[in-house]
Amino acid sequence: MKAKIHLIAAARPNFMKIAPLYHALVGESWAQTELVHTGQHYDANMSDAFFQDLGLPTPHIHLGVGSGSHAEQTAAVMVAYEKVLRESQPDMVVVVGDVNSTIACTLAAAKITYDPKRLAEPGRPRLPMNRPIIAHLEAGLRSFDRTMPEEVNRLATDVLADLLWTPSPDADENLRREGAAEDKIVRVGNIMIDSLEMMRAQIEAEAYFAELGLSKGGYGVVTLHRPSNVDQPDNLRALCALLHDIARKTAIVFPVHPRTRKNLEQAGLLSELRANSAICLLEPVNYVRFMNLVFNCSFVLTDSGGVQEETTYLGVPCFTMRANTERPITVSQGTNQLCTLQNVKSRIDAALDIDGLKARVPDLWDGKTAGRVVASIKKYLCA
Ligand code: UD1
Ligand code: UDP
Repeated sequence: MKAKIHLIAAARPNFMKIAPLYHALVGESWAQTELVHTGQHYDANMSDAFFQDLGLPTPHIHLGVGSGSHAEQTAAVMVAYEKVLRESQPDMVVVVGDVNSTIACTLAAAKITYDPKRLAEPGRPRLPMNRPIIAHLEAGLRSFDRTMPEEVNRLATDVLADLLWTPSPDADENLRREGAAEDKIVRVGNIMIDSLEMMRAQIEAEAYFAELGLSKGGYGVVTLHRPSNVDQPDNLRALCALLHDIARKTAIVFPVHPRTRKNLEQAGLLSELRANSAICLLEPVNYVRFMNLVFNCSFVLTDSGGVQEETTYLGVPCFTMRANTERPITVSQGTNQLCTLQNVKSRIDAALDIDGLKARVPDLWDGKTAGRVVASIKKYLCA
């Protein structure tokens, strides 16, 4: 009997974390891998486009939960996934990242109890707690800022998970400090880099930046979607003023997240951005095109978690509009700087004036993380 593994995907950043693992697992004769999409992100350009780019099949199970308040969304995923767990009885549930669906599926899996008769079937992996093994990919990251919904999700997920796959030594240390048992922590590296390397040929073959009329190294990429930046009209207005200011010197391309678009519209800020010929506003862009923009830009201004990592890997200067980051290695070793409205413009100007940045790629950010995760799963389930 094969070990049944659920890979949980929910929102845009999850797809790049799940894809390399899915591709690595489908070739394993001992594993039966099922993709579960919770439906947290549902627009074609926030979900389907990534399945297509990353070669993922239609999800085996789709929960279709959609948007809602934190409690509504988390609860909807829990209710829907609990039913799936009862019927499907996976041996392992793999959750990734820090979105609401990550903690929701973790909670549902942590409290389910399987029929002991079913578990006694010959060849079935041993499940000591009569429930699936819960594994968290990208465990241990901490911003130490509990006003971030993601920080709450990270803390709660890691307390419940049985296997904690970490991307960097700081994550191991955070987990140890919180009392995680040493044998749960496995440093596997950064899975986002696997997707980047898996798709490198397609990314490099694209000329999306040129199609938009941009020149190599002659523009900056902007992504903003954190509630702390985009939910308050005053913050958003100040950020828009910053973009207009930057655009006096350098062209900007800004694929707008749906949360941000809604808030820009409500605050009456969208038309002025559209009217600025040095700012190229786009709908969310599929992965290959987005990375083509990042590969060829001179800097990135962002509040995204994943983008901080991708720019560190690529050696692209990254200016993060946040007071903290759960990815401190991108600052200590990489190209990332935490910025404020007051200092970001001068920092960008300074970066544009120098050639090349001194930065290193963190250990195990090497495109081989999925292989290490598969080895860890095999050790755990097939021992
Ligand atoms: C979510 C994650 C965040 C992650 C981000 C990645 C949580 C708490 N937040 O934030 O950690 O960085 O995804 O992009 O899980 N919407 C659409 N279409 C969609 C999806 C969303 O229009 O396909 C709109 C809806 O109005 C929705 C809003 O965007 O209410 C926010 O979506 P939600 O998934 O709740 O949070 P994100 O801001 O996307
Ligand atoms: N991304 C993309 N198109 C876009 C914006 C982002 O393909 O228009 C990719 C990019 O690779 C990034 C990932 O989506 O690393 C993460 O997305 P997001 O910023 O939404 O989530 P976070 O990492 O902040 O949770």
